Amino acid sequence: YDIQRRVLSIQSHVVHGYCGNRSATFPLQVLGYEVDCINTVQFSNHTQYKSHSGSAINEEEILQLIKGLKDNQLFGYTHMLTGYTRSSSVLSIFTNVVEELREANKDFVYLCDPVLGDHGLLYVPDEMIGAYKKTLHIPNILTPNQFELELLTGMEVVKITDAIAAINSLHKLGPKTVVITSFELEGDGNLYCIGSQLGTDPVAFKFPKLEANFVGSGDLFAALFLGWFHMGLKTALKNTLQTMQSILHRTLKAAGKERGPKALELQLVRGKQDIETPPETIELSQV
Ligand code: ATP
Ligand code: PLP
Ligand code: MG
Ligand code: NA
Ligand code: MG
Repeated sequence: YDIQRRVLSIQSHVVHGYCGNRSATFPLQVLGYEVDCINTVQFSNHTQYKSHSGSAINEEEILQLIKGLKDNQLFGYTHMLTGYTRSSSVLSIFTNVVEELREANKDFVYLCDPVLGDHGLLYVPDEMIGAYKKTLHIPNILTPNQFELELLTGMEVVKITDAIAAINSLHKLGPKTVVITSFELEGDGNLYCIGSQLGTDPVAFKFPKLEANFVGSGDLFAALFLGWFHMGLKTALKNTLQTMQSILHRTLKAAGKERGPKALELQLVRGKQDIETPPETIELSQV
């Protein structure tokens, strides 16, 4: 706690449950970070429920909030985190913000989760693929899943060696650290997570895939990884995955036999210990 770490997190807010900023804030606070949030949407609940209500803020409103921070000398951050974004003009605001913060602090760290979709399904307008490609020189850390890796590189990613080749092509376009947050090899029942830092050997972990469709887990992963990043790639990845797996196990246990979105809301508050001290007991094998 000797270093003051301040994160600007620009993501969704939900009144009930956990995704976006609600997945990111508590874990980063537990890890000792000051967390300032810009909520890009305020919804009653995440979008996998049968309905949701609420509204999104526009670009002008985001700029107003940033102006307010600047006017009061509050615009000083060591870290920035962004996720689900539906508009390329919001993405270009992120770019401007990062350039400004990096100029004030050369050690500034920006993690961009380039949320485009999953399992072959795009959940943002397709203009976002090109928009992310144009800004790849901006983030220090990029956290695509398997599908997003394919969309950003135009390469097919089926085997681990494909993933490594695609990661290397991303490194060439900018981010020094790339983490493939989840990767499935045909039917072996495991998920793989691969991290790579330019100039060093990639690290990969595998763990059993749980039979549930979690929401907010990608956002939690990004927050935890950013939180542990100062420990170096391998430790950051191991800690992140150990916390992830224990929170997901805890969530499944709390859900009992139910599998609806309400029952599967992440058990973050009860998982405070899992965040503070990532449990070594969680099954995780280095590949
Ligand atoms: P995004 O959509 O935000 O780009 P993503 O698709 O990688 O990211 P997730 O699929 O939620 O996001 O994966 C993030 C992490 O959550 C994984 O690295 C893994 O640790 C954990 N996770 C998610 N779903 C499962 C699952 N079914 N079983 C085990 N772990 C899971
Ligand atoms: N933000 C909102 C409002 C959502 O509804 C969702 C998923 O439904 C997410 C973000 C992304 O969550 P995840 O971390 O699972 O990718
Ligand atoms: Mg996924
Ligand atoms: Na991801
Ligand atoms: Mg996500």
